[in-house]
Parts: sequence; structure tokens; C-alpha cells
Amino acid sequence: MQFKNAPLFLSLVARSWVGTAAAITAQNDNTAVCGTLADVAQSYKSGALRGDLLLFNGTIHTMDAGETVATVVGIKDGSIVYVGDSAADARKSFLGSPPTIDLGGRVAVPGLVESHNHIVLMGNRPGYHTPLENAYSVADVQQTLAARASRDAVPPGSFITTIGGFHSNQFGERRLPTLEELDAALPQHPAFISIGFNGPSVTNSLGKAYFESANLATGPVAISANGSIAAGDETGKALLTLRQQLT
Ligand SMILES: *[C@@H]1O[C@H](CO)[C@@H](O)[C@H](O)[C@H]1NC(C)=O
Ligand SMILES: *[C@@H]1O[C@H](CO)[C@@H](O)[C@H](O)[C@H]1NC(C)=O
Repeated sequence: MQFKNAPLFLSLVARSWVGTAAAITAQNDNTAVCGTLADVAQSYKSGALRGDLLLFNGTIHTMDAGETVATVVGIKDGSIVYVGDSAADARKSFLGSPPTIDLGGRVAVPGLVESHNHIVLMGNRPGYHTPLENAYSVADVQQTLAARASRDAVPPGSFITTIGGFHSNQFGERRLPTLEELDAALPQHPAFISIGFNGPSVTNSLGKAYFESANLATGPVAISANGSIAAGDETGKALLTLRQQLT
């Protein structure tokens, strides 16, 4: 293919297809030989230029109502066009052969751009962090914590935690749950429920025994008979202990 106004053409190509412009060569007589334009067209057709991608053999958390976990996901033109378990079926959604990645069973996470790292912070919470943002009463808290323990088969003895993301004023009772109420919900798991990082916070009987043990690096945490831990230093000691000992 030959073009007049080669510099303009090249500049437009360079701007729209950065990365492939180098494949286009100019001749001294001010015409461009675009033998590789076919490559660009093919590249566009196959999807490589548009970020088409077929992931298979993975763990894809769809987050749908049934919490479906799929193994294959197809992404075409920036949109998910297939979610399921058949790479062969997924391929039918593409014009050509999209770039393909064998996830080897691993979880695929979307490339989220988040400059204020709450996602990472949430992932680094010690214990089995359990959001309470949808709890409107102490009974809701109990139900949410108990469901966390049973649904995710949290091993007995492992800490179930809620660190921030809620306030006791959202509960009808306008207070944190008590030690007895947490014991009723979590008889086999130590619990630590804190308003923000500073507290106040509350624990149950198993948690109280753990925080009061003398061999913590921070020293024992002062805990009321009803499980409450004061805001500030005492909650800080409890949280630091969990951060140091749990992943
Ligand atoms: C999936 O990944 C595992 C782990 O790498 C591998 O053993 C297995 O062969 C893969 N399965 C497929 C269908 O590619
Ligand atoms: C728990 O005990 C502390 C200290 O005695 C008290 O300040 C707090 O109000 C009590 N909390 C509840 C929910 O009864």
C-alpha cells in the first residue's frame, strides 16, 4: 500500500497505535510503505490491540448473588463477554485468537486503580475481618459474625475481627455488643470488634483470655467484665497484638 502525505499519516498512526507505529517504514521519496498495515489490521482483528484476553484454569470470583466461582473469563473490547468453565465456548466470543493466560488455579483480580489504599488495608486486616456495615442491631451483629464463622468454616480458635467500617450508633441499641452477646454468636472463636483503629472495642470470653495472657509483647490488655476495651492505648495494644501475631 502506498500513501501520499506520509509524515501526516505516520503521525496519525503513531498517535492512534502507539507501539505499532515502529512497524511502519517510510521511504526517501516521501511515500510510506505500509506493508505492515496488514499486521496492524490483523492485530486489531485478533484483539491484541484492544486488550482482548482469555483467562482460563483460574479462580474467578464473580460476586453474583449465588457467589459463583468460575474458571474461565473472556474479555473483549474492554467488556467481559464470557464467564464460565469452558475455554472453547469462551473462544467463540472472539473474532480471532485472543491472548490467553493459564492462571494455574490462581485468583484473577481486576486491575483496580485506587490511589487511597483502603483495598490493601482491608486485605491486611488481622483475623477473619467481617464487615458490619449492614448491621443495624446487636442481633444483626451476632447473625453476621455467626454466619462468617459457619459459611467460611473459620477454624475454631481463630480470631474473627471487625476493625472499622462501622459505628455503634448505627445499631438500634447505640452501643457495642457485650462479651455475653459475642459469646452467644461465637462460642468457639475469639472476637475483636473495634470502632476504627482507636476503639473503643469489645471482645468475647476467648478473646479476653487471649488479650489478658501475660506473655503478649504489649503486655496484657485491660478488659472490663463485659468485654469492653477502652479507646486509645488499650485498644491500640489489642490491635497491635493481633497485627503482630496474625496474618
Ligand atoms: C491448571 O493449573 C494447574 C496448576 O498449574 C495444572 O496442574 C493444570 O494442568 C491446569 N489445568 C489446565 C486445564 O490447564
Ligand atoms: C461495659 O463496662 C464498661 C466499664 O465498666 C462500661 O463503661 C460500659 O458502659 C459497659 N458496656 C455495656 C454495653 O454495658
